[in-house]
Amino acid sequence: MGKIIAVANQKGGVGKSTTVVNLAAYLGSRGKKVLCIDSDPQGNTTTSFGIKKKSLKFSTYDVLIGKSRVQDTIVDTGCENVSIIPATEDLAGAEIELINMENRVNRMKMQLLGIKNDYDYIFIDCPPALGTITINALVASDGIIVPMLAEFFALEGLSQLVNTIKIVKTNYNTSLEITGILFTMFDGRLNVSGEVVAEVEKYFPGKVFETKIPRNVRISEAPSHGKPVMYYDKNSKGAESYELLGHEILGEPLELPLKKRRGIFSFKKK
Ligand SMILES: Nc1ncnc2c1ncn2[C@@H]1O[C@H](COP(=O)(O)OP(=O)(O)OP(=O)(O)O)[C@@H](O)[C@H]1O
Ligand SMILES: [Mg+2]
Repeated sequence: MGKIIAVANQKGGVGKSTTVVNLAAYLGSRGKKVLCIDSDPQGNTTTSFGIKKKSLKFSTYDVLIGKSRVQDTIVDTGCENVSIIPATEDLAGAEIELINMENRVNRMKMQLLGIKNDYDYIFIDCPPALGTITINALVASDGIIVPMLAEFFALEGLSQLVNTIKIVKTNYNTSLEITGILFTMFDGRLNVSGEVVAEVEKYFPGKVFETKIPRNVRISEAPSHGKPVMYYDKNSKGAESYELLGHEILGEPLELPLKKRRGIFSFKKK
């Protein structure tokens, strides 16, 4: 049965979209069927796959509002086994339009019921806010990945997110669990990094991913080439770190590292 995972943190710029794109690409290359849902009006996940927003007929907005069937909204990303429900700026309007709609926090969940089992993983990229769009994602999900920076103020934001998770769990989705907390743009040489990791591990025992995503220039360059980092530079530290995260999530050992894989994975040019 497919697993739906929201990638959420109301703090901006912590690596949510980057994590969705690169984790999805990696799991897809390992033969898992993956769907990304871009639930952020900024549409960074959509752009990172090189998808031109002008070419789109439907987007996440239409799915949430009920203007399109989810099956008609899914497009190919060019990465093996990875599809996406893309986002455009329209989605910003959904936050307001949803307020007066019936079942306004269950809409994503209802739309995904029919396709959940067509995929091994569905990743939802949330916007940097705890509004109706993010709540829709949390209500629809089995798990949450929380990317965060190892900086002093990161903890404060986390308690707000945990409160929201509690509210969603109590009222709408009792099975919602934190899949893991992911440190991104990580620099293990800094004292503060170790301190923040230790603090977060104390509050969330067993929930911090062992894999830390380092700050890596290849990760930040890849979106402008419209590709996940593993297709842009498979030998980079960035590609390697998302590979390790992929294996941590799959719960299986890494037998054939990216660096040694040749010709088995490919990216279709759009
Ligand atoms: N490990 C990394 N190393 C270097 N740069 C990174 C890394 N992860 C993300 N970035 C860069 O940091 C910026 C923010 O990342 P990203 O867009 O994934 O964050 P976000 O949480 O989705 O942001 P928002 O809240 O605006 O949606 C981007 O320019 C991205 O390319
Ligand atoms: Mg983002």
